Amino acid sequence: MSSFYAKFFAKLYDKFMVSFEEKIVKDRQRMLQNLTGTVLDVGSGTGVNFAHFNTKVRVIAVEPSKPMLDKSVEKVKGKNITLINLDINDAKLHETIKENSLDAIVSTLVLCTIKNPDVALDNFKKWLKPDGKLLIIEHIHSDKKRKAFFENLFNPLWKIIGEGCNLNRHTDVLIKSKGFKPLEEHYFTIGLRMHKGIFTLDN
Ligand SMILES: C[S@@+](CC[C@H](N)C(=O)[O-])C[C@H]1O[C@@H](n2cnc3c(N)ncnc32)[C@H](O)[C@@H]1O
Repeated sequence: MSSFYAKFFAKLYDKFMVSFEEKIVKDRQRMLQNLTGTVLDVGSGTGVNFAHFNTKVRVIAVEPSKPMLDKSVEKVKGKNITLINLDINDAKLHETIKENSLDAIVSTLVLCTIKNPDVALDNFKKWLKPDGKLLIIEHIHSDKKRKAFFENLFNPLWKIIGEGCNLNRHTDVLIKSKGFKPLEEHYFTIGLRMHKGIFTLDN
């Protein structure tokens, strides 16, 4: 049973994100439009990525919040997208996603929220084919001392408002420490410090 706040959050999410979304929509499009094979969309939320997947790619979209998942249903139309209502670290997912089976994993604005991102990244390594790609658009902890201080200060409250979202994760460092190697990566700022890129397994 979803909480009242989880429903409220899902209802307002797309509206709340409009101006932020305008600044990253081209990145989503560029990274996603030519994907082929089988792709995992991690924490697919309200389905913001769905518009950018072509009709041939097979997408497994995993989202633990039922209200968020419900909002994404209408965006599936005309696409080969399977919705799964599970946490990305739920062991049940291994029944659906086999080792070395994915051509790409898409992680957009989600590694800030997953409780154990290191466990998720270990799973990503298992699930990706040896030449599979991890596609990232994530906000990360600021590299500016003053801003980082305020992100740390505000984080406990933000975590409540943002349904578990953290302002102060060094997700970029974590990804690379797990053995993902950037084919391309960029840092930029849109209020928050952002990290985007395409990563491959450092075999
Ligand atoms: C900020 S939203 C981003 C949604 C979408 N990826 C996008 O780019 O718009 C973060 C999403 O991650 C989901 N999430 C949180 N914890 C998760 C977990 N452990 N496994 C999978 N998804 C998770 C949330 O429910 C939420 O829908």
